[in-house]
Amino acid sequence: MLGVRLFSVQLLTSFVLLCSVPVWAQTDGDGGSTAPAPATGVAGLSTDQAVIDQGKSLFEANCKQCHAVHERVVGPALANVYQRRSVDWLVKFIKYPQRVIESGDAYAVALYKEYQQFMPNHDFLKDDEIKAILSWVQAETIKGPATAAATATTTTTSTATPVADNSGLFIIIIAGLSFLLIVTLAVLALMAATLSKYLKKESDLSEEDLEVLNQRTNWAAIFKSQAFIGITAFVFLALVLKATVEGLITIGVQQGYAPTQPIPFSHKLHAGEYQIDCKYCHTGVEKGKAANIPSANICMNCHNAIKTTSPIIQKIYEYIEKDEPIQWVRVHNLPDLAYFNHQQHVKVAGIDCENCHGNIKEMEVVQQVSLLTMGWCIDCHRKTAVNAKDNAYYDNLVQLHAKRSKQPMKVEDIGGLECAKCHY
Ligand code: HEC
Ligand code: HEC
Ligand code: HEC
Ligand code: HEC
Ligand code: HEC
Ligand code: HEC
Repeated sequence: MLGVRLFSVQLLTSFVLLCSVPVWAQTDGDGGSTAPAPATGVAGLSTDQAVIDQGKSLFEANCKQCHAVHERVVGPALANVYQRRSVDWLVKFIKYPQRVIESGDAYAVALYKEYQQFMPNHDFLKDDEIKAILSWVQAETIKGPATAAATATTTTTSTATPVADNSGLFIIIIAGLSFLLIVTLAVLALMAATLSKYLKKESDLSEEDLEVLNQRTNWAAIFKSQAFIGITAFVFLALVLKATVEGLITIGVQQGYAPTQPIPFSHKLHAGEYQIDCKYCHTGVEKGKAANIPSANICMNCHNAIKTTSPIIQKIYEYIEKDEPIQWVRVHNLPDLAYFNHQQHVKVAGIDCENCHGNIKEMEVVQQVSLLTMGWCIDCHRKTAVNAKDNAYYDNLVQLHAKRSKQPMKVEDIGGLECAKCHY
């Protein structure tokens, strides 16, 4: 039974190895990106406390929903970013990220590939203001994550990370380990053969030893052994379970969905180039639950005079003549069990459309950029501070909250994690 036992031991070790794989494959994933901080400042950035303070408030107003200094949120951790790129490059990128990506800049393209999400334009910020933000980032980087952790306001995982992020790595590791296992088995078999050949030449072997030596490996017995069947069944079940769980998590997730529309309406042209306000067409965003898709009449405000001979615009006329609505294909769609209200987010909280819909102004065809899962909603409610400024409704709550905690009042603190708030 020497052979059988040997084989079982091999199977067992490789199985233990396999089990430990997902653990370190996962911790390998995001990885902190904080290299040692520099002792002195970078050219172009300030160490003046007034500038750093200005940078801090600008960061909190414009960047905090997606960035932290020492950890990845929606976007990358910003620690040391002024060393990864020049200050001039950063100013350009922060103003017009998508332009830099589309110019083919290799670094920016790689970032976009990794994060799969556009950072909105910040062309309303002056160069000096962006440099102030970067000066603050520098000051925080030098402070290091330990002190920052005390003031950190987030406990998040990335919302942008696709669910099956580590699958590729997982498969490569499994393949690598299987290969190693086969090589080890081959080497062991070779050693066993050489050894038994050598031993057979020896004459002073006992009965028992001879029996072991002459025994042939009984493959049938190995495959029928309880140990083998048990282990195989376990591995198989574990893999099936993993696939099922991953499949279930991603059911109904339509990130990246960009259907073709009956009329090729371009946001890039209308909202981008011609800068038509979103609210001109999506009349509901500040008034109610739904943003509303404009009726053909709104198109006619302009197109009864603009491009009237274009065959596409003619198609809009046909809809109006037939008194039929244009059958737009819905892109974003929560299941009926969930309640989402635009007014609350756009008007009360003051969140820009781009945070949830991506850079619509650059889209020829609308695409679903965010996950729209429950985790995505909750994640933002955990880390976003309530916009209580100039809102008397929140005065009492803010006072109560300030007594309990030094942290800003988050959406979770006003009940943003309660099931009934989002579920009918
Ligand atoms: C809506 C989310 C969002 C907001 C708001 C946002 N960013 Fe970003 N940022 C991203 C994403 C996502 C990336 C990754 C690049 C990409 O995919 O375009 C990024 C990348 C960056 C990078 C490059 C990081 C690196 O590792 O090289 C810098 C610098 C940056 N952002 C600074 C800022 C600053 C400063 C602000 C505020 C003025 C800001 N961002 C606001 C999402 C955001
Ligand atoms: C001239 C009118 C017009 C303007 C201005 C406009 N949109 Fe739209 N929008 C439409 C129409 C028509 C559709 C439906 C067709 C489509 O999906 O492309 C639409 C669809 C959308 C959708 C997808 C809706 C769905 O089905 O889930 C989003 C999100 C959106 N718009 C956001 C914006 C944002 C953000 C802005 C401002 C930056 C904006 N729109 C400006 C007309 C407009
Ligand atoms: C506020 C004015 C305005 C509104 C409202 C508007 N458009 Fe436009 N649209 C324009 C302008 C300006 C152009 C560009 C004309 C040009 O290229 O000369 C344009 C171009 C287009 C084109 C391209 C036509 C072609 O043949 O190149 C389409 C399609 C279009 N619009 C569809 C729509 C639809 C559908 C709506 C309603 C949801 C709409 N537009 C609402 C101003 C508007
Ligand atoms: C906090 C995230 C968030 C913000 C901010 C946001 N949206 Fe939405 N939007 C959603 C979600 C979620 C849906 C899907 C709603 C549903 O299916 O009930 C949606 C759906 C839509 C739709 C589809 C049709 C409809 O009537 O719901 C349009 C159009 C739209 N949004 C436009 C906008 C515009 C324009 C803005 C900015 C003024 C904006 N959104 C801001 C999350 C957001
Ligand atoms: C970008 C961040 C963000 C995302 C994403 C987001 N929310 Fe919110 N949500 C907020 C903020 C900020 C408030 C607080 C608004 C206020 O001051 O009343 C809020 C408030 C709410 C409230 C009212 C909570 C209360 O206690 O009054 C509901 C309900 C809600 N959100 C539902 C959703 C749902 C459903 C989704 C996902 C489909 C979602 N939200 C995604 C930021 C977000
Ligand atoms: C901030 C908003 C929000 C809160 C709070 C919230 N949910 Fe959800 N929940 C959603 C959204 C949005 C979806 C739909 C997600 C999707 O389609 O992937 C959802 C989906 C679900 C589903 C899955 C239904 C299905 O069809 O698969 C269950 C179950 C659920 N929620 C239970 C809860 C429970 C229990 C709580 C309280 C502990 C809760 N939710 C709190 C927004 C919320």
